[in-house]
Amino acid sequence: MAHLGIDERQALFPPHLESAGGAAYYPVRAADRPIVLIGFMGTGKSSVGRRLASVTGWPRFDTDQMIATALGMSITKIFARLGEEEFREQESRALEKLDSKQLSIIVTGGGVILRPKNVTRLHELGTVFCLTANLSTLVQRLGRRSHRPLLQTENRAETIQTLLRERQPLYEQAADIIVDTTSLTHDQVAQSIQDSLALA
Ligand code: S3P
Repeated sequence: MAHLGIDERQALFPPHLESAGGAAYYPVRAADRPIVLIGFMGTGKSSVGRRLASVTGWPRFDTDQMIATALGMSITKIFARLGEEEFREQESRALEKLDSKQLSIIVTGGGVILRPKNVTRLHELGTVFCLTANLSTLVQRLGRRSHRPLLQTENRAETIQTLLRERQPLYEQAADIIVDTTSLTHDQVAQSIQDSLALA
């Protein structure tokens, strides 16, 4: 079952699909659907997304980049000038613009799971892989320079811990497949995702 840190507990019938009463069935895991990456800041979504795009030849869509392009501003400026709520609105809009019929790698921001409708949308779009890492690894990875607006606090480690505690259940519920990246390189994470989809 588990290999290279992949946890397939929820791979067959995750709770969000069961509760749909069979009305909206999407194959949870398939090589002919986009790959969606979710997970906390610092879990490596962007780097792994780039590697997956390069090995599959599929285009990569990064919702943060889509938002920054749409508004002509960096994420930092969007948070500062328009506020988090407007950013979240833009994040939902970016997901609406994506196409489930185009094979692609979809990279999302760490807070995408905060809106239940986003989670539903992510499952329409593709197979949802959640990248995780343990707290100390995240603190270490994010402790260096980070421009992320939510981490501009006095005590970054504490902020990470609080956000992680709040979000953990949401990530777990949203994931089709969980990949623990704590002791893996980006290449290994990308490889384990390819393996789980039986992609070359
Ligand atoms: C956020 C994560 C960021 C970005 C924004 C908000 C979050 O993306 O979307 O700063 O709420 O966790 P990364 O996960 O790529 O850092």
